[in-house]
Amino acid sequence: MDLHIIIYPKCNLKCSYCFYNVNSLSYKKNKLDLASIQTWIDKSNGQIENVTFTGGEPTLHRNFLEIVSQISDQVESIKIISNGTMLTREMAESLKQYKAKIDISLDSITSNLHEEIRGGFKKTINGINIAKEIGILSGINTVLTTSNLDQVDDLIAFARLKETKINFSPVDIEESNSLNLLSLSLQEKNSLLRKLENYYCDDRNHYFKLFYLYLHNNKLPNFTKCYFSLRNIILDSDGNFYPCYPRKDIQNSCLGSIFNNSFEDVMLKLQEMKLGSCFKLECFGLYQ
Ligand SMILES: C[S@@+](CC[C@H](N)C(=O)[O-])C[C@H]1O[C@@H](n2cnc3c(N)ncnc32)[C@H](O)[C@@H]1O
Ligand code: SF4
Repeated sequence: MDLHIIIYPKCNLKCSYCFYNVNSLSYKKNKLDLASIQTWIDKSNGQIENVTFTGGEPTLHRNFLEIVSQISDQVESIKIISNGTMLTREMAESLKQYKAKIDISLDSITSNLHEEIRGGFKKTINGINIAKEIGILSGINTVLTTSNLDQVDDLIAFARLKETKINFSPVDIEESNSLNLLSLSLQEKNSLLRKLENYYCDDRNHYFKLFYLYLHNNKLPNFTKCYFSLRNIILDSDGNFYPCYPRKDIQNSCLGSIFNNSFEDVMLKLQEMKLGSCFKLECFGLYQ
């Protein structure tokens, strides 16, 4: 199983569409400590193979490197999902030593546009350059909105230049918001799909099909099982486990607590939940 840890629930940016700023997701009080995470993983008897650290902004945690270094001995690989603004050469070198890779979020290679949507452009590009140079860059995450469609080709070219993959996700935001992709004309939708099809045709065709279904029919699939939760669990900053990010604020989706429940307890609860038909726009990027 892969464990996603929301290690730091706050952020230094205020992206215009962030789940935490415009949607229902809420930042929880941070109750996680290194010892509890280590003990819990230890007791899972090798069942936790990979850990992803996310947030908020994980690199802002004051013991971030210490936590990564300690957990790295317990698992096969570590991934960080970050806005890249805080990444220094020293931090990147340490992360490499702790077998960690980083995905950095970038929505435009044009300073003004990225500033408008997310902020921190220069620092983010600097973070990507450092990650590439040190050899820990595992991908670029781009959220597609109505404002950055003309950036798709340039972003793909930029990712190729950095020899990394790019993960596009449609913005998850209410339909009345002008950033929502459903407000595009048919012509704009087709143009976007052509660009994505070229990029995804080799190995991620299933993901392109999701985009097609969503943009053309405003439909999301009704899976019989949730492929994300077959392999992943979320640990929120308050110490509670959830099957996925969208469900992390739903009380009856809680799988237990790191302070009171074992890996087996959490898995048992997960198996009892019938997940799949609840696929939402927010789950989209998790299927890449
Ligand atoms: C919540 S952030 C946390 C990690 C880090 N702060 C970052 O921005 O990469 C994780 C990912 O979710 C994306 N994201 C945030 N709000 C979103 C939304 N409303 N729709 C789609 N993706 C979103 C971000 O762009 C980022 O790639
Ligand atoms: S950097 Fe990440 S967590 Fe912070 S506001 Fe942007 S999307 Fe949200």
